[in-house]
Order: sequence, then C-alpha cells, then structure tokens
Amino acid sequence: MPNERAKGSVGSPLPHDSAHLHVSGGALYTDDIPEIRGTLHAAIGMSERAHARIKSIDLTKVRAASGVVAVIAAKDIPGKNDYGPVIADDPIFATTLVQYHGQSMFAVAATTVGEARRAARLAAVDYEDLEPTLTAEDAVEAKSFVLRTEHLVRGDPRGAIAAAPHRLSGKIRIGGQEQFYLEGMVAYAVPKEDGTMHVYSSTQHPGEVQHQVAHALDVPANDIVVECRRMGGAFGGKESQPGLFACIAALLAHETKRPVKLRVDRDDDMRITGKRHDFVTEYEVGFDDDGRILGVDFVLASRCGYSVDLSGAINDRAMLHSDNCYYLGNVGVRSFRCKTNTVSNTAFRGFGGPQGMLGVEQVIDDIAQALGKDPLDVRKLNFYGVTERNVTHYQQTIVDNVIHDIVADLEQSADYRERRRAIRAFNAKNPYVKRGIALTPVKFGISFTATHLNQAGCLLHVYTDGTLMLNHGGTEMGQGLFIKVAQVVAEELAVDIDRIRITASDTSKVPNASPTAASSGSDINGKAAQAAARKIKRRLTEFAAQHFGVAPDTIAFRANAVHADGKSITFDELVKLAYFARVSLFATGYYRTPKIGYDRKTWTGMPFYYFCYGAAVTEVAIDTLTGENRLLRVDILHDVGKSLNPAIDMGQIEGGFVQGVGWLTTEELWWDDKGKLMTHAPSTYKIPVASDVPPVFNVRIFESGINAEDSIHRSKAVGEPPLMLAISALHAIRDAIASTVDYALSPRLDAPATAEAVLRSLDDIASRRAKSAKSKVATEVA
Ligand code: MTE
Ligand code: MOS
Repeated sequence: MPNERAKGSVGSPLPHDSAHLHVSGGALYTDDIPEIRGTLHAAIGMSERAHARIKSIDLTKVRAASGVVAVIAAKDIPGKNDYGPVIADDPIFATTLVQYHGQSMFAVAATTVGEARRAARLAAVDYEDLEPTLTAEDAVEAKSFVLRTEHLVRGDPRGAIAAAPHRLSGKIRIGGQEQFYLEGMVAYAVPKEDGTMHVYSSTQHPGEVQHQVAHALDVPANDIVVECRRMGGAFGGKESQPGLFACIAALLAHETKRPVKLRVDRDDDMRITGKRHDFVTEYEVGFDDDGRILGVDFVLASRCGYSVDLSGAINDRAMLHSDNCYYLGNVGVRSFRCKTNTVSNTAFRGFGGPQGMLGVEQVIDDIAQALGKDPLDVRKLNFYGVTERNVTHYQQTIVDNVIHDIVADLEQSADYRERRRAIRAFNAKNPYVKRGIALTPVKFGISFTATHLNQAGCLLHVYTDGTLMLNHGGTEMGQGLFIKVAQVVAEELAVDIDRIRITASDTSKVPNASPTAASSGSDINGKAAQAAARKIKRRLTEFAAQHFGVAPDTIAFRANAVHADGKSITFDELVKLAYFARVSLFATGYYRTPKIGYDRKTWTGMPFYYFCYGAAVTEVAIDTLTGENRLLRVDILHDVGKSLNPAIDMGQIEGGFVQGVGWLTTEELWWDDKGKLMTHAPSTYKIPVASDVPPVFNVRIFESGINAEDSIHRSKAVGEPPLMLAISALHAIRDAIASTVDYALSPRLDAPATAEAVLRSLDDIASRRAKSAKSKVATEVA
C-alpha cells in the first residue's frame, strides 16, 4: 500500500482550517452573523468614578433619546445580578457602589449602534466620591485584599539566607497587559420560543456563559444555548468576562423580546475588562561563591482589581512558577491578592506564570552580576537535575526535564558565547548605542490548577456518505485547536481530513465543557475526540469482521479504506453497509486528565500533568539617548513533545514570543490619579506590529521532544509557554544597560522596558555608579 495514512493525520503541518476564510473575509465572527429582522443594538452606561457611592441615577434623558427602545438597570434583572466566575462579586450592573472607572451601571437597546452609544452617555449620575485604592502597593498598606494571603514554604528560607556567604535583595515592578484581541467583546442574544434563548458569544467558556445568562434571566440552564464558532483572538481575556456582555444582551433581549447585539468599541472594551495582573515582586536571596541559590524569599503583590474573578488561580500559578527551571531547596513565596478600584484583572496567556518567573530570573541576573559571572552559567548551575534535585517547591517530582539539552543546543546554535564577546567589543566602541544579550529558559506546568476543569467531551457523527461532523467543548481563538483535534480523528479512523466538518462550540452538543485555557485545549479535547472515534472504529471493526467473515483483530483501517485478509472495502461503502445493518454511527467521547491533584492547604501534590520547556537567546540594541530598544536577533528552541501540527505550533511559538515582547517592552497601562485608564486605544497603548519582529528570527521545534506522559500522541501543549521566552528580551535590555557602567552594577529595570523606563534605569545606574565611586574615594582617603 503506497500511502497508508490518510491525508492530514497527526503530525502533518496543515494550515489552520479557517486560514482561507481568515484571509478572504469569509470567516464568520459573532458580529458577522447575519442579523435577524428586528435586531436591536446595545450599549453600556459606565461609571465615571473609580470609587463612589451612587446617590441617584436619572435615566430620563437616556430613555428619551432617539432610537432608544429599552433601558435596564439592576432592578430589571429577573434573576441574579452577578456574573462572577468563582465568587459572586461581579454585579452585572452596579447598584449603590461603583468600584472602578468604567463599571457597568445600566444598558440601553436602540435601533442602531450609534443611537445606543449616544444614549448611554446621557445619564445624570449623582456620585458621592470615596477614596480609591489604585495600586498593589497602596492596597498592601491598606490591607485591602480580594482573597486571603497565601504562603508557600519549603525548607528554611530565612535560616538559609542568614547563613549564606552572600546575600542580595531587590524589587521589580511588572506591568500588566491588555489582551488586545482583535475582535472585541461581543454577544448576540436571540430569543426563541417558550422563554428559551440562543446566545452567540465570543467566549473561551460557552458553558459558563450559559449559566451566567440562565442565572440572570432566572431560567434553567437547558433554556439557554451558547454558541461560538470562533473568536478573533482571546488570549485569556475571554475566559471569564464575556459573561457581562452576554448577560446584558440577553437581559435586553428578554426585556424587548427582540434579538439584541452588544458589541463594545475598543476604548470601552479596554476600560471595562480585566487585563494581565501587574505585580510588585520583592526578593531576598542567599547564595554561595559559585552562585548556587541557598535560600530565597519572594513576596508577590498583584493588583487584582475590584473583584476576585480568576485571581485566586492566577496568583497560585505565579507562586507555583516562582522556581521557573531552578531547584530552590529553601524557598518562601508570599502572595498578596490586592483589591483595588480598577478593572478586575483576569487571565492572560501564562496566567500568572510569567510574572512568577520574572522574579527568579532577576535573582539569577543579580547573583551573576555580584559574582562577575555570565548569567547563563548561574542559570545552568541552578537548573533542576534530571534524576536528583528534581522535586519542586510544591513536592512534585519532575520526570521529564529536558532543559539541559535545550539550553546546550541553543547555546551552540545561537553562538551565545562568541556573540557575547562581540557585544562587549561593540559596546566598548560605541558611546550611545549599546547592545545586550541574554539566554533565558522556560518551564511551564500544564493542567488547570483547579483540578475539576481537567475534563473534556466530544460528539462525533459519521454520515452515510462517509463524511464526518466533529464537535467538542473546546473553543477556537486562532490557536489552531480545531484543526489539531480534527487531525486526531483523521488519524484514528484513517480518513482524509477534508471529510471532517469542524463545527462551532455549542452547549447543546457538548455540555459542561471547561474553558479553553491553561494551554490544555488540544490535550483534553484531542483525547476526548480520540475516545469518540475509537468507539465508532470498534463498531465498524466488528461489523467489517462479520462482513468479511474474519476475526476482528485482522481488520485494519488504512487510507480511507478497511482491510482484512487481502480483502478491502472503502470507508464510504463500509459506512453505508453498516447503516443498513443498523450500526450506530455517532458517538460521544470523554476524557479526564489522570494522576493530577494537589492540596492547596499544604501546597503539595501534583498540580501539573507535565511540563513544557523552551529557551530563547535575544540580542537587543538600546539607544541610550532616547531609551528606544530594538530586537536584533532571536533564537528559540522550544519543546512541543511530538507535534500534532508543526505549522500551527511554529505559529504559536512565534506569536507567543512576540506577544511577550510587547508585554515586557512597549505595552504600558497607565491610570491617572483618579483611577481612570488613560491608555485605552492603540493610539496610547503600543502593541507589537509586524515591523517589531526581529530581522533574524530563528525558531525551531525541539525535534527530540516527546511527552513522558500518555498525552494525545505524546504531544505537548503550546499555547502559553512560548510567551515566557520573551523574558530573554528584558534581560538582554538589562545587559545593555549594565554595559554603560562596565557591568559593575545590576540595573534596576521595571517592566515594561519602555523608552522612559530604560532612560530612568540608565539614570539610576549612572548615579549609583557615581555614588559608589565617591565612597570608594572616601575609603581610600580614610
Ligand atoms: N493563539 C491565538 N492565535 N489566539 C489566542 O487567543 N490564546 C492563548 C493561546 N494561543 C490564543 C492563542 C491562550 S491564553 C491559551 S490558554 C491557549 O492558546 C488556548 O488554546 P489551547 O489550549 O488550544 O492551546
Ligand atoms: Mo489562557 S490565559 O489560559 O486563556
């Protein structure tokens, strides 16, 4: 048999299943769904204060405005005025208290989008101003927290630091990040008969939106169907917060008995929705003469915003990633979850992990500087071992450590040592433009730390013409989940992938699905789809065995046909015959991740099924007169296990890295002293564009990668981990800054390293250098 495998099976570098639609405008996003006659458009009335009591709201002018059909506020909600994903502290409409600038207070439905938006601005609100708490540091001082403070300790960090030959302490401010999905928040609610409703929502979690809408309308879950064919990007921003928009559209649809669409514009989206948590991380470390960490203590304070949202799990993940790739025998991590009068911060690619890792990476850099060593040598010295020193600070044994191999390969292939020397030489000659280089590693844990979410379901149909329809609980946000899962089905049944119609996530097809998040989409939905395909394959095998009069174990599925004993029948024919013989041709599949589970009280166990690894070398240039930075060359080696689809995985690695560079270099969120977000559009909030991609960008998949666990075809998740490769860019900038004082001091550089931040850091390091020179003179004189 020449081609035994069908087209598009596992491992093929297929393009995204919707690529032809993305580029031609044929892909239907929620806003593109043809509108039903009578559709109304909604807009949200937002708070103009960060923290205030609402004494009264007069909506007379809103109601009287042109085109307005309905205006609703909290008292018009038949059910619960809440869309909190974990804790009920997210009102759909504020009632007596507003807790952030931009909080929703009421909503309008009008004939056109413009009329709705204009009307929503006409409310007369009487506020009684309260003092806002805006930053994490203010909140720590005021003891203002959304959740209790957590403390994870292994060994005796304080004792080890005190006894260590060397000690250092430091602090880094880590900025937040707007998800900046290209498609903003949108929902379209269509009332159906008998009180039921169909809601199209741009959401990573249709199952949760279904419940949020049902609770708001006070109807059972089976009255609501939530559907999402695709999102125009999500990046974590649509994990928990689409509920607000879906609830408002549904409430207005319920009120008017007409379809209602709510699509907020970019500025409002940025004012209303949560972002990556910004952190203030302080550390104290004790280390030996070689640079080995003996004890380290971290204090993480994150700005959660006004409500809990997903902040518990996000801060947990930050704590669990405070080690990155390093063995920390004596470690303490204290985590403050700060309540502030700002948007409720939420998931963003990495989910707290990136912020957690930045702390230890800075510790390593500081140690290297203090000892006059190459940071790479200090990194390697502190790596987890493969068979010893391989237990994390939460007592999970690492069984798949490939960071040594990855870093060794990259150090060679990127010519790290030689380029480091060349950069030193370049810097000695160039007074204004300085270059820097850094190699940083990534280890990222895969699984939801909320263990119950690690489950998935699939619904698979085979029609009598031999075509298939695939549905599962995962959602497509551009990451290529749907094509990967389809490849799993193609592989299992040995049929060409173009026979498989991929369909929208839909709560009426697969119930109770988890959010597509934690990078686990293809892991869990792939396994569920495989289970469904195997059920159908078993039935067809049995039937084919009868048909051929052979034993079932001689039946083989190969390249769109079924073979036994030299005989064969096409898949189409077999399916037709099976139908007439009354063999069921559809199946569900279910999967739950094995092994995992941990005890949050003691912070011990196995929160992660496995780890993903990668490393990056980044070379930058900074202009010391303007503070600008530019990436000159980036080399990446990243582990995706055995790739389900190397083309998709490469896209995720490149995209994740560039998004991470945006977070750490240009994307700055800025609130004024009244708590109003002033960077709420691309004019003031700078995300990377195509021209920011480095001119030399060598990205490779770690070819010998294989998942040590029984994951779907031994692949590894790829969605989030590559974002953290961008930490190398921040460290390369630090290296360039250090060159201005002949590497005599460790820079203080907060993230993002915007031009202003780089200039501040240059000033700071120059003045510290001057001070230390003065005190040196003083001691010499004395
Ligand atoms: N890639 C694209 N193009 N768009 C996205 O919104 N989200 C990221 C990542 N890659 C995202 C993306 C995030 S935050 C996660 S958790 C994963 O994709 C989710 O999908 P997966 O589990 O299927 O990898
Ligand atoms: Mo991704 S931050 O887990 O949605």
